[in-house]
Amino acid sequence: MEFTDKVVLVTGAATGIGKGIAEAFAAEGASLVLGDIAGEKLMTTVNELKAKGVKVVGLKGDISNVNDANALIDLASKTFGRLDVVVNNAGVVDRFLPVGEMTDEVWNLTIGVNLNGPMYTSRRAIPEMLQHGGGVIINIASVAGLGGAFAGAAYTATKHGLIGLTKNTAWMYGAQGIRCVAIAPGGVNSGITLGGEPSALGNSRLGPQFGTLPRVAEVKEIANVAVFLASGKASAINGAVIAADAGWSAGG
Ligand SMILES: NC(=O)c1ccc[n+]([C@@H]2O[C@H](COP(=O)([O-])OP(=O)(O)OC[C@H]3O[C@@H](n4cnc5c(N)ncnc54)[C@H](O)[C@@H]3O)[C@@H](O)[C@H]2O)c1
Repeated sequence: MEFTDKVVLVTGAATGIGKGIAEAFAAEGASLVLGDIAGEKLMTTVNELKAKGVKVVGLKGDISNVNDANALIDLASKTFGRLDVVVNNAGVVDRFLPVGEMTDEVWNLTIGVNLNGPMYTSRRAIPEMLQHGGGVIINIASVAGLGGAFAGAAYTATKHGLIGLTKNTAWMYGAQGIRCVAIAPGGVNSGITLGGEPSALGNSRLGPQFGTLPRVAEVKEIANVAVFLASGKASAINGAVIAADAGWSAGG
């Protein structure tokens, strides 16, 4: 089991893709640090994993809050004495709002969770990883980080930004043993919701694009990619964006 004695931290791990990623790393022997703003659901996930004998701790917190993000990273070293993998997965969507309809609330929330959060956790994790010879940061981006026809303006901007953060982190720290990669899922059967009434313009512009989605992926399929990217088998992959979208983005 490749991840025995390795510590993997996952944000947004209470449900959906994050929970699937936690389960997949647990199956490979990893010890887990899990964060989510949804405290009760997070504890359900933590208890399910504990019942299977997994070494796991959970912390309720808002990843867009720097103190909560720092506390989550610090929990890894406090509990397990090291941190090998960070999966920045927590994310929110933006009701497909185009920029002309953008509200400050949607913009700030989306930037806070999808972009500030991964920066906060990465910033805090880097010294910890460097102390132990390196690590892997996996950012869960989206096809909306590759093109402009997959979401609203805020979500699209954050996922493009997250890919920029991924590439820069890879370039800056690759020589010191830290790899940073992004996964760009298309549609995933995760239970994610739009977060409110969608924009009519957004719906009408994005609808035809959604009609071209080849198929919806299962959470497990995204989790498998994350485990591979964090493993030694992916040692030459750094700064790359891996589309896990059943070919959706290949269609343009
Ligand atoms: N589902 C899809 O089709 C899809 C496609 C592309 C990318 N993604 C990305 O995958 C990631 C996971 O999405 P999902 O589909 O599992 O969604 P989800 O809504 O099922 O899960 C997201 C998790 O993040 C948590 N979260 C939300 N805000 C948070 C905050 N401020 N602090 C901490 N945790 C917070 C939620 O409580 C939830 O448990 C997101 O980054 C999303 O953008 C999803």
